[in-house]
Amino acid sequence: MTETTRPVTTTDAGIPAASDEYSLTVGAGGPILLQDHYLIQKMAQFNRERVPERVVHAKGGGAFGFFETTEDVSQFTKADLFQPGRRCEVLVRFSTVAGEQGSPDTWRDPRGFAVKFYTQQGNYDLVGNNTPIFFIRDPQKFQDFIHSQKRRADSGLRDHNMQWDFWTLSPESAHQVTWLMGDRGIPKTWRHMNGYGSHTFLWQNAGGERFWIKYHFKTDQGIDFLTQDEADRIAGEDADFHRRDLYEAIRRGEHPSWTLYVQVMPFHEAADYRFNPFDLTKVWPHGDYPLIKVGRMVLNRNPDNFFAQIEQAAFEPANMVPGIGPSPDRMLLGRLFSYPDTHRYRIGTNYLQLPVNRPKVPVHSYNRDGAMRYENPGDPVYAPNSYGGPQADPSYELPSWFVEGGEIVRTAYVKHRDDDDFVQAGTLYRKVLDDAARDRLVDNITRHLKQGVSTPVLERAFEYWRSVDPDLGARVAKNFGR
Ligand code: NDP
Ligand code: HEM
Repeated sequence: MTETTRPVTTTDAGIPAASDEYSLTVGAGGPILLQDHYLIQKMAQFNRERVPERVVHAKGGGAFGFFETTEDVSQFTKADLFQPGRRCEVLVRFSTVAGEQGSPDTWRDPRGFAVKFYTQQGNYDLVGNNTPIFFIRDPQKFQDFIHSQKRRADSGLRDHNMQWDFWTLSPESAHQVTWLMGDRGIPKTWRHMNGYGSHTFLWQNAGGERFWIKYHFKTDQGIDFLTQDEADRIAGEDADFHRRDLYEAIRRGEHPSWTLYVQVMPFHEAADYRFNPFDLTKVWPHGDYPLIKVGRMVLNRNPDNFFAQIEQAAFEPANMVPGIGPSPDRMLLGRLFSYPDTHRYRIGTNYLQLPVNRPKVPVHSYNRDGAMRYENPGDPVYAPNSYGGPQADPSYELPSWFVEGGEIVRTAYVKHRDDDDFVQAGTLYRKVLDDAARDRLVDNITRHLKQGVSTPVLERAFEYWRSVDPDLGARVAKNFGR
């Protein structure tokens, strides 16, 4: 842009500004004047630049792309986006869980893998992680779990003692902690990891038949990871390592892709399965429910406005489209409430009108007004009405299941034969990891436990790992001279 074509700076009301450098003063050495509206607008706007960071998953990055359904899974779902040949735009945001905005991308943590599908039937949000399981199985424990991973009240420091205290008092965490301490606890890049919907969801086909399903996005780049030493070094050199990698790969034209698979469980098999298929601390073994291919997701467009498109992106597991519904997974049901609630606090009540969050199809809702709303439906402003306003259609009810009446209780749900906290963590250690991966697991656990964990918690940690596998427990304890 040449000097002559440069536009004049304006205030946010579009009024030309007289200076980018000097405040309005009484004489060169005199006081600043309150009537310098442009200066005051700059200061006031700057003071309000930040929205609160996400309470979890604060540090992340993302990109746009597309999803296409390459296979025919219409026998399982009528969801429009999963019909053969359908293609829709997507936004994907990757993140770490516990870190804050500026924290290093290479800390050991699960990674968020949140996908927003802009479908012809509204936005479908699959807000998953790079792990098929989670630390807990009841939303009552989520807040406490996150507090234990974040910072102490007194010093503001992170504290491995409180992490292990919570984990060892919560045996249902064993599978996820084994996974986390293994190689996949620090992916090489976001491009080199899988994504999982993690929860069980309900699909329904056009004939009304229902199926329980789990989503798996397998990376086409191949799985790769960083060792603890590599990750520690990179954390010091480039805290934005993963954000930068994705951005630069897409800019080079290397568009990362993932193949989407589902596991499908016939509706009636859930009741008598050997463990609770809605327990988020468990996977469904592939031997029982093999992966069925659905389609392909490609990321090919970087954000050009990080704040508007990534920081203000609002994902919510409750955004489900016809043909897809929730399951009795307590964690999923808790999440259905939590996300829109936090968005209203973090971004504002009309967050769904922001370009990145608004659907690519018309909205016909009776919701209206509120802070920062700029589009409103016209009359009639109520339903039912006799003036041609939109009308709901019961055929779009999301699929659901039958709930037997019973006492209102607060209790664990233990009904299936293998509802055990340690069995799948043990399988991961014994059957999936090779010798070198097992060595790295023991080393990672040991190094993590050596950072300020108190003796009683340490003793519980040895017992925890013995419960996962006696050999693993013995190897960890031996590293502490026990
Ligand atoms: P399978 O042998 O059929 O599956 C093993 C799975 O383990 C593969 O999907 C593989 O993912 C994954 N895997 C390989 N290395 C690691 C690692 N270092 N950390 C975590 N996962 C890894 O056996 P099952 O289905 O019976 O599962 C056995 C155990 O494997 C489970 O207890 C669980 O811990 C783990 N697992 C199972 C998954 C499932 O959905 N069934 C998914 C992920 C892990 P990939 O093919 O992408 O390399
Ligand atoms: C982010 C709550 C479990 C994946 C968040 C946020 C909240 C939250 C409040 C911040 C959202 C925002 O500000 O935009 C909860 C609760 C859970 C839970 C209450 C359990 C009861 C999970 C699980 C997964 C998950 C099990 C994965 C399977 C994510 C992801 C994000 C996120 C990926 C970041 C989304 C983004 O990129 O904007 N969660 N969460 N959460 N959560 Fe959860």
